[in-house]
Amino acid sequence: ARTAAVIPAAGRGVRLGPGAPKALRALNGTPMLIHAVRAMAASRAVSLVVVVAPPEGAAEVKNLLDAHALPERTDYLVVPGGETRQESVRLGLDALPDDIATVLVHDAARPLVPVDTVDAVIEAVRDGAVAVVPAVPLADTVKQVEPREKGEPEPVLATPDRAALRAVQTPQGFARDTLLRAHRTVTGNVTDDASMVEQLGEPVVVVPGHEEAFKVTRPLDLVLAEAVLARRRV
Ligand code: CTP
Ligand code: MG
Repeated sequence: ARTAAVIPAAGRGVRLGPGAPKALRALNGTPMLIHAVRAMAASRAVSLVVVVAPPEGAAEVKNLLDAHALPERTDYLVVPGGETRQESVRLGLDALPDDIATVLVHDAARPLVPVDTVDAVIEAVRDGAVAVVPAVPLADTVKQVEPREKGEPEPVLATPDRAALRAVQTPQGFARDTLLRAHRTVTGNVTDDASMVEQLGEPVVVVPGHEEAFKVTRPLDLVLAEAVLARRRV
């Protein structure tokens, strides 16, 4: 049974500021999406990568994949994405061939995840977990607040015990059937795939993530990503 990686890359990247869709922005001269595809294909266990492209950008993304050197043992598919991340992931899942038993879902916006993290997630699924998320401890203390208008002081409601909190990354790994069932049945706003599996009542486990798997969200993250890449080349 084979493993596939679905890469949602259809977002605009509003928080990054004006410009091309986030996944197509360059990091040290190479589009973020290509870095993310290479990060998945770097795992010998991954035999298929499905890229979910910006809705009007599927042809451009196909050209990009053709123009960059990628491992030949891996197959690549491009499908157009949707309005939300959740919809984009579902469109990627719809493209999976029948012989895929393990599915990774990986944000294009996490281009620098190390292959050891990818392999650890896959291994945990193959060892029997139905849903696996890489995550790291928090550096900041977190407060739960009562949200107010922008700029207004917000009352603090609680301070959860930081030692029991984790910041969740991708790739998240799943038994294919479980993830498909989650995407068929869970509705409402979610920000990751594992939370949909949680809503099914199925167990989700955390494995160690990596600081280089951070999400490129705001302009400062581009500076950090390019510095990480420069450090890798030495
Ligand atoms: N994504 C997607 N389809 C959408 C929205 C998001 O495939 N309709 C993808 C993004 O391309 C990204 C991943 O989901 O790889 C994580 O989302 P996020 O970091 O929020 O990216 P954007 O939604 O593009 O950024 P922003 O929220 O700042 O607009
Ligand atoms: Mg978003």
